[in-house]
Amino acid sequence: MSKVTVVGAGAVGASCAEYIAIKNFASEVVLVDIKEGFAEGKAMDLAQTASLNGFDTKITGTTGDYSRTANSDVAVITSGIPRKPGMTREELIGVNAGIVKGVVSNILQYSPKAIIIVVSNPMDTMAYLVHKVSGLPKNRIIGMGGALDSARFKYRLAEALSCPASDVDGMVIAAHSDTGMLPLVSKATYKGVPVTGFLGQEKIDYVVEETKVGGATLTKLLGTSAWYAPGAAVSTLVQSIICDQKKLIPCSLLLDGEYGQKDIALGVPAIIGANGAEKIVEISLTDAEKEKFATSAAAVREVNNDLKSVL
Ligand code: LAC
Repeated sequence: MSKVTVVGAGAVGASCAEYIAIKNFASEVVLVDIKEGFAEGKAMDLAQTASLNGFDTKITGTTGDYSRTANSDVAVITSGIPRKPGMTREELIGVNAGIVKGVVSNILQYSPKAIIIVVSNPMDTMAYLVHKVSGLPKNRIIGMGGALDSARFKYRLAEALSCPASDVDGMVIAAHSDTGMLPLVSKATYKGVPVTGFLGQEKIDYVVEETKVGGATLTKLLGTSAWYAPGAAVSTLVQSIICDQKKLIPCSLLLDGEYGQKDIALGVPAIIGANGAEKIVEISLTDAEKEKFATSAAAVREVNNDLKSVL
């Protein structure tokens, strides 16, 4: 038995539910939304793909009845308003902080043991907020940014290398923001060989810049925030938890001295298994990367200061 709740049945939440179902590792997914009938509708539509897509995951929806989410193993929070073109993720904080705070308390009332995945933006600050308001052990709160940003990094690397993304490996750490993201070029490889041996500086700079503004580029094209890659990134995290896969995935975690930071949630590589973020992995960074990580942390701290009114 494995039960997953996804709060917010908008494009991102529905994509999470869809990828979780298609990967067929969870017994049940419950979608929750505040818009009357919306989660029920999305859930029914998705459930009707079961015989077509060959999955057994039961999918249901509810308009805000959290008792239906009881005993979830994992709860994903996608609630809140999404970015509009030209907006930064940080501009969403006023509205989304209040929403996320309410959602966390509703989830924990019925699923006190759930591992929580935070998707709402500004994601690092929302993950920090969930730590502050819930008091849960830090392994149980995971911000999904790095999982998504790393996939976007690999997409851009594969494009530059003219190779399949499955041949590329790479991680993005630090903040899930247009300026604070830190794609780790020094660790990126094409089939285990450093990408710096294949790509000139100009191409590498292009890959890094396009990765950092990956979400903004899509928001401009779509008129709202992206959903396929965010949904797939979340489903990868959920699967690693439910199936205890121990995948090494960068995500936003509360730091307690790791990478020189404390009392902040920020993207770092971690082993994700049945106990959530089971271990933060400290990898060696170049001096330039260390400096960028610290600058990124300082910017997130500024945004976290805006939480004072809700904490
Ligand atoms: C993005 C949103 C989910 O980067 O933050 O697409």
